[in-house]
Amino acid sequence: MCGIVGYVGRRRLVPVVLEGLKRLEYRGYDSAGIVYLQDGKLTKYRSEGKLQNLESIMEEAIGAPAHIGLGHTRWATHGAPTTENAHPHSDCSGDIVVVHNGIIENYHSLRNELIEKGHHFASETDTEVLAHLIEEYLDGDLRAAVTKALARVEGSYALGVLWTGMPETLIAARNHSPLVLGVHEEEGGFLASDIPPLLPYTDQIIFLDDQELVVLKSDSHIIYSLVTGEVVEKKAQTISWNAGMAEKGGYKHFMLKEIYEQPQAIIDTVSGRINPENGSVTLSEMNLSDEDLAGIERIFLVACGTSWHAALVAKYWIERWAGIPVEVDIASEFRYRTLLIDEKVLTIAISQSGETADTLAGIRLAKELGSKIVIICNVVGSTMPREAHGTVYTHAGPEIGVASTKAFTSQLAALFLFTLYLAEKKGTMEAGKRIELGKELINVARVIEEMLPILQAEIKELIENYYDSRDFLFVGRGLNFPIALEGALKLKEISYIHAEGYASGELKHGPIALIDKDMPILGLTPKDAVYQKSISNVEEIKARQGLLILIGTEGDAHLKSITDDVIYLPEIHEELNPILYTIPAQLLAYEIASRRGCDVDQPRNLAKSVTVE
Ligand code: F6R
Repeated sequence: MCGIVGYVGRRRLVPVVLEGLKRLEYRGYDSAGIVYLQDGKLTKYRSEGKLQNLESIMEEAIGAPAHIGLGHTRWATHGAPTTENAHPHSDCSGDIVVVHNGIIENYHSLRNELIEKGHHFASETDTEVLAHLIEEYLDGDLRAAVTKALARVEGSYALGVLWTGMPETLIAARNHSPLVLGVHEEEGGFLASDIPPLLPYTDQIIFLDDQELVVLKSDSHIIYSLVTGEVVEKKAQTISWNAGMAEKGGYKHFMLKEIYEQPQAIIDTVSGRINPENGSVTLSEMNLSDEDLAGIERIFLVACGTSWHAALVAKYWIERWAGIPVEVDIASEFRYRTLLIDEKVLTIAISQSGETADTLAGIRLAKELGSKIVIICNVVGSTMPREAHGTVYTHAGPEIGVASTKAFTSQLAALFLFTLYLAEKKGTMEAGKRIELGKELINVARVIEEMLPILQAEIKELIENYYDSRDFLFVGRGLNFPIALEGALKLKEISYIHAEGYASGELKHGPIALIDKDMPILGLTPKDAVYQKSISNVEEIKARQGLLILIGTEGDAHLKSITDDVIYLPEIHEELNPILYTIPAQLLAYEIASRRGCDVDQPRNLAKSVTVE
């Protein structure tokens, strides 16, 4: 939540930072601000609401010959989303500016202390205490002042600091909030909360760790430990993403582009990891020895939101094919229950960003209890993989739309591969079956690729009868129950229609009371092992005049006898139906949200990468 961008180098500051903020706007869009230093003077622009508001007041500043500055896009935590609370925040003198992502937990006491010392506050934010604290400690050496200030702070931060007294230097630091550096000999030094802002300028990335501070100049960067004060040597990593991956590429929305990128994302996630000759799966970054694997008696899957839905699907797969009991937890709950975890438990966290605060706290806890930790993650070098024993990376490329799409289906592909891997190690699946299922995984990507444009057109037409509904139910059984949850989440988060997902068989235990002639229900009814049961459940809905949309297998004429609104999908191996059946659910949410005029990529109140607990 909240995005930070900083730059010092030969380019004009404002376009670099504005473009960078655009690539980070998914992290929050309650307000935005930019500050630059030119001729010894700081100039600050701030605006509430989306970045375009800031852009509109910065037209004259675009060409300013400034080469150092900071930017911020905010997801409000402390203080309303107003211009006064927009970052950057300044000290009393106006010579120090700070942008911050995170939460200063002891800001009340620090603020009172600083007010007593005569400091004047201009905002309600926790961040502003940082500017005043630095001012309090500043005695000619900005690094020393920031270090002292941060020693007083409890909570999480990624921050950037600029001071008129050091006009060629940015100082940045992190603790429990992400911060990356981009370095390039000619372009200069970059600072950002995530990789996309850096992609147009450099592929050389350095991930700061907790309790590290960097002194960044156009031609140098020195990283210090905030604990020991010593210099930390870190090598830049070369990142394989490119700038085009973080652009819309002709699509109206990032979400739609990312829906269409799913076949490639699945193929990239699977490629090279399963040997077509013997069905052997290689997950090289997982770092678990055969001995480690042999000792695993239970698996905990921990995640939030959409990633949690991927975990729910994986439970079916792992238990069925590898015979290991699996528990699935929402990360924010996992942390606060009695955890019977020891070294015989493998904890797998699933996270697109690798930064989600609750999931991160969950893996730290599980690690303390002796569990091995593996992350299914999309962002190379993010915090979770760095703290885990091993990682299975999804190769979905940057996901910018706030509603997760390609990351989800890639997570499913990675989790399916992981299931095959475990089944191989445990000897619970023969090579022939692994080869067959591995091929099916690639096949599902091809099927999705072929059907996407036709399916989108079909759904666009279908939603004319449903787009102004107030509520929506999604039902599915077995492997498709989590997809009902995912469909409901997608719809509610981008269209603001109240939507719930249920296990089809659970309807009669309460929710069926909701059904009347105005209630649309989307039923997932592929020809699978639980088909007959699913059909009985949707018949029960039909008997109560619910507005049924069914998604089922091509050629299943029976569905048409239940309702007119049927979406047919090609028949694939039923184990992989969760991947296939996600696609119409995503498109339904997308088309309804677009039809309602909602901001698909930036739904209200949300931010991608939830780095606060
Ligand atoms: C919904 C969505 C969120 C994320 C959740 C976890 O579309 O994107 O529910 O899935 O915030 O994020 P990660 O996977 O980054 O840990």
